[in-house]
Amino acid sequence: MIRTPLITVMVDAVMKAARGLKRDFGEVENLQVSRKGPSDFVSAADRKSEEVLYEALAKARPGYGFKMEERGIVEGADKSHVWHIDPLDGTTNFLHGIPQFSISVGLERDRQIVAGVVYDPIKDELYVAERGQGAFLNNRRLRVSARTDLADCLIACGVPFLGHGNHPEFLRELAAVMARTAGVRRMGSAALDLCAVAAGRCDGYWERNLSSHDIAAGVVIVREAGGFVSDADGGERILEKGSVIAGNESVQRELIKILKAAGKVTPAPTPAPSAE
Ligand code: IPD
Ligand code: CA
Ligand code: CA
Repeated sequence: MIRTPLITVMVDAVMKAARGLKRDFGEVENLQVSRKGPSDFVSAADRKSEEVLYEALAKARPGYGFKMEERGIVEGADKSHVWHIDPLDGTTNFLHGIPQFSISVGLERDRQIVAGVVYDPIKDELYVAERGQGAFLNNRRLRVSARTDLADCLIACGVPFLGHGNHPEFLRELAAVMARTAGVRRMGSAALDLCAVAAGRCDGYWERNLSSHDIAAGVVIVREAGGFVSDADGGERILEKGSVIAGNESVQRELIKILKAAGKVTPAPTPAPSAE
């Protein structure tokens, strides 16, 4: 496990927020919820978790900026550092009592993500990575899977939902990926999906229409586990575009090709004029 001062600060903040989240999950049916948009709920637990993270990180690293899901951007005096915070990733699971959600905190320094912490409070699984220091799950060093034959590979994804994402494009992508792989999973927390790739549980993952707080931490965790991550077009602009393709080197390369080909819409043939 990495024990640098930065990781200690991040882990302390995340563990503090997780205590409240775990308690609230136990009482999920009594939580007050408000609608943020179609199918997109924000719970009281979510806001409390963000508050705890904000206070702890602002105190430990005064001046750093913040990009948070609920409060949005808080500019810092120190322009080179920005925290990307998702206080509850997997809100829909949480509200439905499905125990698959996480807290995700990533740190950007000079436009590069340099550290990430993702915590799954239900499984008590803590993922940490710092650039150049490796990635860990609790005390175990992480390594992406070594599978190269897509026919053996398990691929995670995100599924667009009411009012979000390009549904026809996703259906084309899913058709292409499911035809080539051992299985596709939609687990419901983007941060944990990236960690599943880092831990070698899944061989690849893709999703579009995300925000930097969903993926900043997970991206550095995958990379430090020896994995590859790009945006959905195979480029470097992951956080800006909010799209991600991750995997071990060969699976990630194959996924880029498959998804690119699936994204191309072949125009419907013009019907031949009738003989009559
Ligand atoms: C969501 C989760 C989910 C992904 C959604 C995200 P939230 O985040 O990461 O897996 O498919 O697109 O919005 O809303 O639970 O923080
Ligand atoms: Ca969230
Ligand atoms: Ca999220």
